[in-house]
Amino acid sequence: MLIQWQEQNETDVPADDGWLGSWELATLARMRFARRRAEWRLGRWTAKSVVSAYLRLPATLETLRELEIRSAPSGAPEVFFANGLAGLTLSLSHRSGLAVCAVTRARRLGPALGCDLERIEPHSDLFLADYFTIEEQSLVRDSASGDRCRLVAVLWSAKESLLKALHLGLRVDTCSVNVTLELPPVAGNTGWYPLRVQYAEIRPLCGWWSESAGFVRTLVVVPFLGGISSRTGRFSLARDVLGADHPVESVAGDVMVAGARPPVNIPRKLGPLRGF
Ligand SMILES: CC(C)(COP(=O)(O)OP(=O)(O)OC[C@H]1O[C@@H](n2cnc3c(N)ncnc32)[C@H](O)[C@@H]1OP(=O)(O)O)[C@@H](O)C(=O)NCCC(=O)NCCS
Repeated sequence: MLIQWQEQNETDVPADDGWLGSWELATLARMRFARRRAEWRLGRWTAKSVVSAYLRLPATLETLRELEIRSAPSGAPEVFFANGLAGLTLSLSHRSGLAVCAVTRARRLGPALGCDLERIEPHSDLFLADYFTIEEQSLVRDSASGDRCRLVAVLWSAKESLLKALHLGLRVDTCSVNVTLELPPVAGNTGWYPLRVQYAEIRPLCGWWSESAGFVRTLVVVPFLGGISSRTGRFSLARDVLGADHPVESVAGDVMVAGARPPVNIPRKLGPLRGF
């Protein structure tokens, strides 16, 4: 599975809207707040850049207009080309003038991707108590005080990535998602590191995290086998995902990541989906 990853910042985004399609222009016109408009345009620009690179599309305005990133009823981004679904799964995140986006090919039953960007910043004890599992809370309590914000950012971001991949978002109690890391994050980490995410009865899912310039990025891959209802926009799991005789590893193999302007030292190969 090749996942294309890209980051862009606000200075990369063209000032005019000539690269937006008609659905996108109509959506933008309904947005009242300048900050939301700017973040949304940055997200769309990053998504179009990453899809163009992945599909090797010609870099013309006409192509960019035909390539639209629309929103499903759940809020999840969907890639359209010439008004038809492009057969891709894409996830994006934008924060403080920076955006990340990941894309790969998808069929009806998967895979699905979730990615997220979080600033490393202090959070209250109440935030930890309300939104993190007991296991995660004790991980944080046992961490070195200098690395605590970093760890909280990775755990939170991984939860968001998983909930994006499942098209659920924060409608779901974040305490129903438990994140474990192979290594505790410490200052000076470079590269991507594996993580695992457990949600409901699904087999543990694999993901990766990385840090640079005060931000944490996470990527979670759901390699199977469910459907996203066009009516509700919710991800429903295929029955055999829950069965023990359908190992995740057999579905997808290794995850390869390619991308322009990736986070520091991004390895081309993130590792096998079996995690750690
Ligand atoms: C998905 C969600 C967790 C992301 O929140 P966030 O950390 O503030 O923002 P991020 O920048 O990381 O991600 C935003 C992007 O996630 C994507 N997204 C939104 N809802 C999503 C969903 N249900 N599944 C997958 N991706 C989703 C969108 O592409 C969105 O960017 P866009 O609106 O510009 O297209 C949050 O928006 C959410 O829970 N949404 C669903 C609940 C909802 O609809 N709330 C309404 C507002 S109260």
